[in-house]
Amino acid sequence: MKKYYSNLKEGYGIIAPEYKGLIGEEEIEGWREEFPILKDVVHVANCSQAPQSKRVRQAINRYLDSWLTVGMDWDTWMEEVYKAKVKFAKLINAEPGEIAISTSVSEGVSSIASSLDYSGKRKKVVVTDVEFPTVNYVWLAQQKYGVQVDFIPVNEKYEIDLEEYERYIDEYTLITCATYVYYLNGFKQDIGRIAAIAHDKGSLLLVDAYQGLGTQPVDVKKMDIDILVSGNLKYLFGIPGVAFLYVKRDLIPRLKPSVTGWFGQANPFSFESRIIDWAMDASRLDTGTPPVLPAYAARAGLEIVNEVGVDRIKDRIDMLSAYALKGCIDRGLKTISPLDVNKKAGTTAIWVSDKMDSHELELELKNRNILASARGDVIRVAPHFYTKPEEIDYVLDQIVDILNSR
Ligand SMILES: Cc1ncc(COP(=O)(O)O)c(C=O)c1O
Repeated sequence: MKKYYSNLKEGYGIIAPEYKGLIGEEEIEGWREEFPILKDVVHVANCSQAPQSKRVRQAINRYLDSWLTVGMDWDTWMEEVYKAKVKFAKLINAEPGEIAISTSVSEGVSSIASSLDYSGKRKKVVVTDVEFPTVNYVWLAQQKYGVQVDFIPVNEKYEIDLEEYERYIDEYTLITCATYVYYLNGFKQDIGRIAAIAHDKGSLLLVDAYQGLGTQPVDVKKMDIDILVSGNLKYLFGIPGVAFLYVKRDLIPRLKPSVTGWFGQANPFSFESRIIDWAMDASRLDTGTPPVLPAYAARAGLEIVNEVGVDRIKDRIDMLSAYALKGCIDRGLKTISPLDVNKKAGTTAIWVSDKMDSHELELELKNRNILASARGDVIRVAPHFYTKPEEIDYVLDQIVDILNSR
């Protein structure tokens, strides 16, 4: 197993934890059967959309069968939505009552933004340049309520120094938003330390964990996160249309969302339309009819992650990260991802814009049966636990070949 590291020569500057090989090669081969497309395609686009698994397909079919044969099957469907919340809660060490269901990260963050009281002295929202932009748009849209949005800048290494949080968060800060993993280059933030800084200054902390969940451990209690949001279709193997929101138990009664609806009420079926009576648990952040079909898919995807185990997945992802970083350096490709694997998640970003448009490269790779994902100036190579090191070699070789042909 350790052979993947043995040829990391001095001078590469790559720091990586020791690869334990917690998922054996035979087990990897078994899991690869679960994702039929892997037979024909090298799939390193997990930062964008995971491949379809047999289980997720079966789960979607279970919904279609229920609708076809039972017809109106609301009790089963609502049960399924609840079960998806339970699985998500397990993944992040929360209680099911601390989870709300939403249709996207944007909607979940909007619900939170609409829940806060900006009438006191704390009117400031601290966000970062490494948020996925949708999160910042939600906060910028709150400026009409007197909210001040301050941006923590990204540095020349495409990272954020912890000291910046010390500098930007102050006694006027109501909430701080820190993404767990930067969508562009996989840079991973130390959420526990950021939470300590934010709380010390009386600010809440919201974490968008979308690019980390599934490959990086998240324990909302240990990390002391107030609010966490994530969609489902990247490393969690799901489909578009569903996102989850974690809200710390003690915080729930403080939140009075105006982005709301009947499923956010204590009894959605009271049909009492003259009063608003939010639920006492996190479902007060649910809005309208929940995303039933995506919830079927979400549970099946989450089951794969929980079954394989995030710690074992991380071991493999770290190895693949070190392998990809070394592969870039060997081939003269410029990466903007951290060379310290402890500071990164799955994505390795390769700077290509001096040679060609990254989206064009994504399309050329697709013609060669490789799915990688372009963003801005980079092409992102984002493996999952089933990815083989030789697939990374193949992807990097093809990138070099395409760039050299320019
Ligand atoms: C970190 C992160 N947050 C949010 C999103 C998207 O959010 P939404 O579910 O609102 O489309 C993405 C990418 O799709 C992302 O990478």
